[in-house]
Amino acid sequence: MTRAPATPGSLITQTHHARVKAARRLAKRAFRAADRRFVVEGPQGVREALAEPGALLELFTTPDAATRHQDLVSAARAATVPVHTVTGAVMAEIAQTVTPQGILGISPFRDVSLDVVLAGAPTLVVVLAHARDPGNVGTILRAADAAGADAVVVTDSSVDVYNAKCTRSSAGSVFHVPLVVGVEVGETVTKLKDAGVQVLAARADAEAALDDTDLRGAAAWLFGNEAWGLPPEVADLADLGVRVPIYGRAESLNLATAAAVCLYASARAQRQAGGCRT
Ligand SMILES: C[S@@+](CC[C@H](N)C(=O)[O-])C[C@H]1O[C@@H](n2cnc3c(N)ncnc32)[C@H](O)[C@@H]1O
Repeated sequence: MTRAPATPGSLITQTHHARVKAARRLAKRAFRAADRRFVVEGPQGVREALAEPGALLELFTTPDAATRHQDLVSAARAATVPVHTVTGAVMAEIAQTVTPQGILGISPFRDVSLDVVLAGAPTLVVVLAHARDPGNVGTILRAADAAGADAVVVTDSSVDVYNAKCTRSSAGSVFHVPLVVGVEVGETVTKLKDAGVQVLAARADAEAALDDTDLRGAAAWLFGNEAWGLPPEVADLADLGVRVPIYGRAESLNLATAAAVCLYASARAQRQAGGCRT
C-alpha cells in the first residue's frame, strides 16, 4: 500500500532556527533544568507522550518519518501540538542519538514531590542512590512500570532522569511511573519509614535472602551504584538488607536486573496477599 505523504509544513533547514536552538539546548542538563523540558526520541516515546494529556509540547519530524508515522503527526496536530518538519541534518543536530529515528518530541518535566507520592499510600517504591548509568536508570523505570510500582525516587546523587539515554531506555515508562528527583536519600528513607513503608536495601552481601523475606507489606527498595553498590551509611538507613541469591559464579547482578528481580518478588507477594491496589 502506498501511503500519501503527511501534510508538509514549511521545512526547517537551518540549525539556527529559534525552535531548533531551543530544542538543541536541551542536550545539556543545566538547560533542561532551567527550561523544565526534555527531549523524547523515537516513535514509541512520542506515542506514549501523546497518550498523556499535556505531555507533548512540540513535535519535530523529518519528511520521511512524517510519512512513516502519519498517525503520530495527525494525533499531534489534532491535539494542537506544534509540528515542525525539519531536514535530516537539522534532526541530527537536535537528536542525542547517533542514528536518530527522524521523529522526536519535547516534553515538560514530570517529577512530583515525595509528599505527593506518600499521600497516595504507595505499596511499592524504588529508591536509587548514586545510580550513574542512564541506561540502567531507564531500564529500572521500565521494570518499575511493568511491576506496577507507585514511584521511582532518583536521589540527588544520581544521573539526570531526563537524560536522552535514560528516557529512551525507559521505552515510554518515563510517562507512566510517578518520578521524584533531587531529594536526599536520608530524607527519602525517613519519610518512607514515617509513612509505614518498609525500606529494604538490596545488597549482594546481605544476610536475608529474597526468598526467605516476608514481602507482603508496603516496601521501598533501595539500590546502589553500578560499581560500588550502597555505601554502608546509606545501607544502614534501611530496615533490612536483602540479597538476591547468587547460585552461580557471578559476583553480583547488574543494577537493573537486581531491581527487576526484587520488584517482581514484592509485586508477586503483595498480589498473592491481596494487598495491591490493581
Ligand atoms: C552491580 S551492583 C554493585 C556491585 C558492587 N560490587 C557491590 O558490592 O555492591 C549494583 C546494585 O545492584 C544491586 N544488586 C546487585 N546484585 C545484587 C544481589 N545479588 N542482591 C541484591 N542486590 C543486588 C545492589 O543494590 C547494588 O548496589
